[in-house]
Amino acid sequence: MTAFARRVQSFGTTIFSEINILAAQHGAVNLGQGRPDFDGPDDIIGAAVTALQAGQYNQYPPGNGAPDFRKSIAAHADRFYGLSIDPDRGVIATAGATEAVFSCILGLVDAGDEVIVIEPYFDSYVPNLIMAGATPVFVPLHAPDWTLDPDELRRAFTPKTRAILWNSPHNPTGRVFTPAEMQLVADLCQEHDVIVISDEVYEHLVFEPAQHTPIAALPGMTERTVTVSSLGKSFSVTGWKVGWVYGPPDLVAGVMRAHQFVTFAVHHPSQIAAAYALSLPGTYFEELQAMYTTRRDILMDGLWQAGIKASAPEGTYFVLGDFSEVFPGDDIEFTKYLITDIGVACIPPSPFYSDAHRSLSGKRVRFAFCKDEATLRTAGERLRKLRG
Ligand SMILES: Cc1ncc(COP(=O)(O)O)c(C=O)c1O
Repeated sequence: MTAFARRVQSFGTTIFSEINILAAQHGAVNLGQGRPDFDGPDDIIGAAVTALQAGQYNQYPPGNGAPDFRKSIAAHADRFYGLSIDPDRGVIATAGATEAVFSCILGLVDAGDEVIVIEPYFDSYVPNLIMAGATPVFVPLHAPDWTLDPDELRRAFTPKTRAILWNSPHNPTGRVFTPAEMQLVADLCQEHDVIVISDEVYEHLVFEPAQHTPIAALPGMTERTVTVSSLGKSFSVTGWKVGWVYGPPDLVAGVMRAHQFVTFAVHHPSQIAAAYALSLPGTYFEELQAMYTTRRDILMDGLWQAGIKASAPEGTYFVLGDFSEVFPGDDIEFTKYLITDIGVACIPPSPFYSDAHRSLSGKRVRFAFCKDEATLRTAGERLRKLRG
């Protein structure tokens, strides 16, 4: 007798856990998981400490989130994107973007519905759909520029399509989709009455001249989009797992039905600190982008010197590097070799594809640059051994 429910039998251990274990065993510089190796800003952490000690935030918050946090999410969406969000009926605080996406799927997608998934995709999306009994329909991005083929996208829309899972800035390709590219998605969604679950966790990690536009800001899309984001990437506190969903009240009400029985509510003191973080002035976000531009360039330099070809990402803190000139095998073999023989950990992207499209990942691996400059330089030195 197997101990697992059928719905999870096809799930392995996430690639991130596997790589972290292997990297620790071999003392590799870990550029795998998108997990900063430096702490979040002192003032944001101080705001959490103050909230913990204030004597009023250590009990359950409202299930949809602390009022000040919800207000700050709506104000942030207005300040950066001109979106008008109802903080009471149009926002939910969640346990990170991961829970947000899952609650959106559980609350808005029926078993048997089709959901379009752009490949390569973030690893929780497909297990989330499987657990909800929905059917993923895969549409790949095409290298080297990671663009959608309009005909492939169009063919993916059927009478059964309920939603598309959209992610921009995109992990792992680093693409920031332009409003023109998103317009095709928007047109198809409107034509086929499809909703968008838009994962924008890298909304503040965008490099000039790229600019992030939420798909909800496109004409006719506000009413059919639930937007997901979280604190982790924008404020270097991935361990807090504080996220949110915002959108039109009729869709958010569906998400709330699921959220109330998934987590009910999320860590109250962190929500108070999150409200502070989201209200920081524009200079905070400019400095974040400048910091990551420097780190991106250090990593890019290390990769090129090692013979790994890579284009600078438009957003996120990931670079996809092409190792075809330095290693003959596939991405999984290269990742293992890099960890055990070179001492650098990365992530192979092939697990983020359906079986039918796996070969499209090519000879590439993902490196994260949310690391100290010294860590990135050490990685660069080790990678140079690849040339030898
Ligand atoms: C595209 C994408 N969505 C969601 C998440 C998860 O975000 P959180 O830690 O807020 O759950 C990540 C984290 O790497 C991600 O890359």
